Amino acid sequence: MERKNIFPVFDRLTSREDKEALLKQRGLAIWMYGLSGSGKTTVAIELEHKLFQKGFICQLLDADNVRTTINNDLGFSLHDREENIRRVAELNKLFIQNGVIVINCFISPTNSIRKMAAEIIGKKDFVEVFFNTPIEICNQRDPKGLYKKAMTGDIEEFTGVSSPFEMPDNPEMEIRTDISTVDECAQKIIDHILPKIEIK
Ligand code: ADX
Repeated sequence: MERKNIFPVFDRLTSREDKEALLKQRGLAIWMYGLSGSGKTTVAIELEHKLFQKGFICQLLDADNVRTTINNDLGFSLHDREENIRRVAELNKLFIQNGVIVINCFISPTNSIRKMAAEIIGKKDFVEVFFNTPIEICNQRDPKGLYKKAMTGDIEEFTGVSSPFEMPDNPEMEIRTDISTVDECAQKIIDHILPKIEIK
């Protein structure tokens, strides 16, 4: 689409550095991805609380919230999933520009979708956290009853059942909610990101 007659004003606003100095934190995208039922949202909520207790302001962006609001026009074809992630990545950029830490919970099922998110946000502001929960466990947990519906064909294109999930080759960070507690998982993420968000 042509972009003429559009005049962004970003360069005339207060800088990201000044905002980060005011907030005493650096903006960052924490990109938590993995199968439905892998524990992303549960760990994200714990992570948000822990970071707040340490004095950090975060924005949680979670699939079910985003998909019932800004992205309520999108379904689960690979094309719509890509558009879902593209918009969310653009939202991340806005928050990061204001020094806010964004905790994202999206399946992000393919390598190319995850690569796109990293490229839109910028690799230096992007931490990738793979929730590597075996599908059998997600299936057993089935907190929303969706695996059951997917098995009987009541939901189409369900990730891991009738729509692909590509395992990452070399994830920056891996979380195992099947063998660690929620508290341990959140703490592991904090230990990894703290040097990136702290302003000393
Ligand atoms: S993504 O593939 O575009 O990253 P996203 O994380 O936003 O997916 O949405 C996944 C959530 O939508 C799941 O946690 C589940 O609650 C719900 N959902 C509904 N239908 C599907 C489906 N066909 N595949 C996966 N998740 C679905």
